[in-house]
Amino acid sequence: MREEEEKLLAEAARKARGNAWAPYSGFTVGAALLCADGTVCTGCNVESTSYSPSCCAERVAFYKAVSVGERKFAAIAIAGGEAGEEPSGFCPPCGVCRQVMAEFCAGDFPVILAGRGAERKTVTLAELLPLRFGPDNLLRE
Ligand code: THU
Repeated sequence: MREEEEKLLAEAARKARGNAWAPYSGFTVGAALLCADGTVCTGCNVESTSYSPSCCAERVAFYKAVSVGERKFAAIAIAGGEAGEEPSGFCPPCGVCRQVMAEFCAGDFPVILAGRGAERKTVTLAELLPLRFGPDNLLRE
């Protein structure tokens, strides 16, 4: 993926973070999912006063995309931190979101972590979730 594309996706994640509804944790997250057809689906975390219905930014982005017919994805960018503040580090996706990524994406799927300012770190889904259970089910190596 080109440097410029990564940068734009990271910026979209930062912007989506501004829409987060996170009054309980005070931690806001934005995600921007690049679909294979070039569409970008964004998401933010949405919390609930009864806590368990809360949903992470990454899953909101994936579910939005799948709900409009997207199935193939090129990359996701994620930005998170204390509400109202610049991220003070990188926000790696939680285990549940990693599993959702594994439903649709191969191990080389790039996950771009957007940190403070222009800081970025790109990792793959395989690095985040090795030996994952996926649609292929059994590991035969
Ligand atoms: N959260 C995300 O949206 N994505 C992540 O990658 C980590 C955590 C949300 C869940 C909850 O609303 C808040 O951040 C604090 O955990």
